Amino acid sequence: MRIGTLLKTLVCVGIATAYPNFKDILPNGNEVPHPCKANYVWHGVGHNNPLGGGSRNQFGLDFKAAGLSWTSELCRKDSDGDGRTNGEELGDPDCVWKQGTLPSRLTDITHPGVCTLSDGSICDADKGWIDCQVEDGLKNCDVMKEPETLNTTIRFPETAVPAEETTYSCMIFNLPSDQDYHLMAYEPYIDNEMVMHHILIYGCDPTKDPVPDEKLNTVTKCGMSAASNCNKLIGLWAVGFSGYCIDGPMGFRIGQSGFKQAALEFHWNNPQLETNWKDSSGVTLYYTPKLRANDAAILSTGQTHIEIPPGQQSYTVVGKCHSECSRQLIQEPINIFWATNHMHYLGHEMSIKVYRNGVFYTELTNDAIYNYDSPVEKKYSTAVQVLPGDEIVTTCKFKSLSRPKTTFFGDATSDEMCFGFMAFYPATNMPFPTCTAWKDISICNMWLQQEHNDCKWVDFIVVNVNETKRVRDEVMANCKPFGNCLSECKATLQVLFAEHPCMQGDVYELIKEMAIEWNNKEMQSFIVAVDSCKAEMAADLYLKNLQNDNTNGSDRLDGICSLLLSLIVYMMIK
Ligand SMILES: *[C@@H]1O[C@H](CO)[C@@H](O)[C@H](O)[C@H]1NC(C)=O
Ligand SMILES: *[C@@H]1O[C@H](CO)[C@@H](O)[C@H](O)[C@H]1NC(C)=O
Ligand SMILES: *[C@@H]1O[C@H](CO)[C@@H](O)[C@H](O)[C@H]1NC(C)=O
Repeated sequence: MRIGTLLKTLVCVGIATAYPNFKDILPNGNEVPHPCKANYVWHGVGHNNPLGGGSRNQFGLDFKAAGLSWTSELCRKDSDGDGRTNGEELGDPDCVWKQGTLPSRLTDITHPGVCTLSDGSICDADKGWIDCQVEDGLKNCDVMKEPETLNTTIRFPETAVPAEETTYSCMIFNLPSDQDYHLMAYEPYIDNEMVMHHILIYGCDPTKDPVPDEKLNTVTKCGMSAASNCNKLIGLWAVGFSGYCIDGPMGFRIGQSGFKQAALEFHWNNPQLETNWKDSSGVTLYYTPKLRANDAAILSTGQTHIEIPPGQQSYTVVGKCHSECSRQLIQEPINIFWATNHMHYLGHEMSIKVYRNGVFYTELTNDAIYNYDSPVEKKYSTAVQVLPGDEIVTTCKFKSLSRPKTTFFGDATSDEMCFGFMAFYPATNMPFPTCTAWKDISICNMWLQQEHNDCKWVDFIVVNVNETKRVRDEVMANCKPFGNCLSECKATLQVLFAEHPCMQGDVYELIKEMAIEWNNKEMQSFIVAVDSCKAEMAADLYLKNLQNDNTNGSDRLDGICSLLLSLIVYMMIK
């Protein structure tokens, strides 16, 4: 492991020098919080505009005078005059930080160009130029003003926010269903902006039994999906969005022949573990009986396997929506009229591109600079047509200079995500329109039967089909979970690895990860049993090859290199 990290470090130094960015030449420069907007980052620390550019604040002027570098003089200065030096504010109190290293402190970072009092409030001197107003609803949304347009506001009852970094809370509610409507716009109602990270609105499958009355309008903890039948995304809000408003030949159908119930899913972010926070946020939905020609739906793409090593200037993650999956999801051409990117704090660049017959066709999004708290909506007046069989490639780039450890995919704000969302028409009848990937394995129409190279891996994990049972029984009869590698176990596995499609390559790794994520105990002990021999078998194979090479007298490895490789094999076995 160490050797790999070392190699990567060497490689990444090469890249680092080729990418100048002022944020990188300041300690914690990518992590300076907005002094009065919770969950927002101040991207251009030296500028009056949080997004950077334009006039400079006092810290920016001092930074310029210091030759645009982090000198110890600049570090010891208190540019904003609030009693904390610039170094103290940026997590380098001793003024020892060098570019490319971790600052001595990663938390409690404050803005060196904004004077703040000890209670967190802004001094009078700086109040004038700082905008503390969080997005306040939609402006210029014509469809809201049409006389036929109706609105309804759905809010959580006041609910205590758990003292946990990440909580997903859901509430299912009835939609108007006296007739058909198209949902055309929505605005967030943010009650406690300190905790709101995002809101998703899911339509509940109208062909399934409705959620009973007693379960409606009550807040429950939930996972990343609200309820098994409420999983068709019809709306989303994230920090930085003021709402959604698009008029065109489409709308999200609700009512008599559309969604009759929907779920609101909140992601609350409470990294300080405050115990007395409450929230009763919600959304106002704008819907019209003046139906548009088409029903709309939202497709998500991206990558769900993310492992970003620490200290990376730019680390790329790609998620492919493969041709096979897009062909399965859509039977006719779809028209994409809206798209947006979603990552968390480490995301700095992202695009969604469409390939047709292996050739680049068009791009749906391309944020050369991505800021988690100022997401960009792409709206197409002429919709982009995507055909069955097109490949949609989502590419995310992350900067992990601020992280001392690996960052994984996950739902917490400190984890990362790489998702693209696209609204399109006409809506298809796909049960759960996702075309994401785990490494290079399609996660197509999530939660349905998944197949990869003849391995039905969801079945293999969750359904006790005869085939799974046979494999499981055989492994459990011959291998010893947490034990030594038994020779009968090796023999069993040799056959399985060679023949069973679910025991090969990445799909086995995926099964392993899902067994943990879905907390499937039976599958977990199966994996521990298999893994009792996996490392030893890999080492056997390697040593055998080495021996063959040596006896034939060709391809002799020089002493140092073979020593190094034996060391790696030894570490693998350990
Ligand atoms: C929402 O609907 C109510 C009537 O139910 C109306 O008075 C109000 O103006 C509407 N709000 C907007 C922003 O259109
Ligand atoms: C599973 O095995 C049982 C008996 O062991 C058999 O009756 C059944 O038909 C099998 N099912 C399938 C789908 O093969
Ligand atoms: C070495 O010899 C073995 C057995 O004689 C043979 O199977 C193998 O292909 C040879 N390897 C090389 C690299 O020549």
